[in-house]
Amino acid sequence: MFRKIALSAATALSLVTGSAFAAGEGGHVTDYAFSFEGPFGAYDQAQLQRGLQVFTEVCSACHGLKYVPLRSLSEDGGPAMPEDQVRAYAAQTFTVYDPELDEDRPAIPTDHFPENNGVGAPDLSLMAKARAGFHGPYGTGLSQLFNGMGGAEYIASLLTHYTGEEKVEAGTTFYENTAFPGGWIAMAPPLAGEDVEYADGHSNELHHEAQDVAAFLMWTAEPKMMARKQAGFVGVVFLTLLAVLLYLTNKRIWRNVKYKND
Ligand code: HEC
Repeated sequence: MFRKIALSAATALSLVTGSAFAAGEGGHVTDYAFSFEGPFGAYDQAQLQRGLQVFTEVCSACHGLKYVPLRSLSEDGGPAMPEDQVRAYAAQTFTVYDPELDEDRPAIPTDHFPENNGVGAPDLSLMAKARAGFHGPYGTGLSQLFNGMGGAEYIASLLTHYTGEEKVEAGTTFYENTAFPGGWIAMAPPLAGEDVEYADGHSNELHHEAQDVAAFLMWTAEPKMMARKQAGFVGVVFLTLLAVLLYLTNKRIWRNVKYKND
């Protein structure tokens, strides 16, 4: 019996230390404060628009956003751009291949952002949900519960944690990046600061640009976050009311039994 317990304890311990080791391999992720954090957090419309600008002018050269319909740029809770502005943006920014016309034409709002496989860069539509910046100790999930998954934090950190070191391996250049698991990434630093000129006059320092595009990519990965949080809040209020009513009903039903002798 004792041997069995000792054995399973040892196994459990090795599992725990194993996952701790795995977590240790991840890169360093800064816990930026984003407006959409917490149960009542919401996307900052102006920030999403700035992030769209960074994506358009810098990232879209290599990355696609193939799951994101252009028309969603005018949805509430997102960048909420006026529809005519979205139409103009689509037409001026992207050309798409139209199988019916059998030729390229300017994009319209019902098209998606184009995909881009040119240099082997991954599609960014869902990247903010595919990467977790925060790993709880021993994979308990507690850190995620309190800090969120950290997808946006990971992306913002990735863009700001280049060390400037590079190396060439098998013909590919790798850039040292302390946020990237493994420490060496094949993406050259895409932002240096002052890469875009914001129309709203917001600072275009590196860490601002990085957080803006990370917030935008969080929105592309979870455009309905606001609706989800609202539904969750309504659910909690409803269940609280229900619990109070049930408690009172219960008291009332058993009242005669409890006070039989009075
Ligand atoms: C010159 C081309 C190029 C540009 C411009 C570029 N990227 Fe990349 N990106 C890549 C490549 C290539 C990879 C794959 C790197 C790898 O896996 O080693 C990548 C990977 C990524 C990843 C995934 C990292 C991971 O965890 O796997 C993210 C996130 C990312 N890029 C974000 C961005 C953002 C945001 C921008 C714009 C600010 C941007 N990239 C601009 C080429 C580019």
